Amino acid sequence: MELALQVQDLTVRYGGFTALDHIRLELEQHTTLGLVGESGSGKSTLARVIAGLIAPDEGQILLGSEELRKKRSKEQHKQIQMIFQNPDASLNPRHTVRQILAEALLFHRIVDRSQVGRRSTELLDRVQLEARSLDKYPHEFSGGQRQRIAIARALSVEPSLLIADEPTSALDVSVQRSVLELFHTLRTELHLTMLFISHDLGVIHAVSDTVAVMRQGKLVEVNTKDEFFIRPKHEYSRELLSAVPKMPR
Ligand SMILES: Nc1ncnc2c1ncn2[C@@H]1O[C@H](COP(=O)(O)OP(=O)(O)O)[C@@H](O)[C@H]1O
Ligand SMILES: [Mg+2]
Repeated sequence: MELALQVQDLTVRYGGFTALDHIRLELEQHTTLGLVGESGSGKSTLARVIAGLIAPDEGQILLGSEELRKKRSKEQHKQIQMIFQNPDASLNPRHTVRQILAEALLFHRIVDRSQVGRRSTELLDRVQLEARSLDKYPHEFSGGQRQRIAIARALSVEPSLLIADEPTSALDVSVQRSVLELFHTLRTELHLTMLFISHDLGVIHAVSDTVAVMRQGKLVEVNTKDEFFIRPKHEYSRELLSAVPKMPR
């Protein structure tokens, strides 16, 4: 199995506070790692440092066999795309969906100008939005639909790693499931490599191949999904699991 991502001794401090404490993590290609942990445990900090949005104080990040340094190339930025809890963070409100997708496709030279329309329609189809959505603005969509647009934008540049940080947590309960199902479909059909973050073990169960548990800036357990839900290794994992009223199996 080839490794898509390796994180070695990654440490991030905010002033005197250690938010990530020597994190070591590996992610195999075409698999999804579910990262779980309570609020404030450092999940988003790990996502941001891998995505290059903040620089680590210590440690290395390897994408494939390439070390990612503080100053990343345009190509390296392209390779890691992030989906945020709030889709508006990645959608320009003054641009139509057509412009949003075209900008990403052209900036990274994914297709040439004559192919942008066709590819944009394909991307919308992939996230189960109608082609006529292309000429609408983000505010004309529901939260769940905006998250689909953000997913299409992230996928448009064909990243080697997709990081989704609580992508369904801000959505109405009624649409959370359908967006989660989309992630499941993308994962099985496109064989994406994903780091999927959630504080919700039901969500983690639905999308992960491997589960990593974070607590106070440290990784306390990394395990296969099946082992994690049946025989968690760490006492803290058992506590997390026993706090869930009814687990889907
Ligand atoms: N920019 C920041 N400055 C100072 N402290 C921060 C900053 N971002 C996060 N933190 C702190 O770091 C810890 C981890 O935060 P975060 O990575 O957002 O956790 P999670 O995503 O698991 O909720 C928390 O205690 C949080 O208050
Ligand atoms: Mg977070």
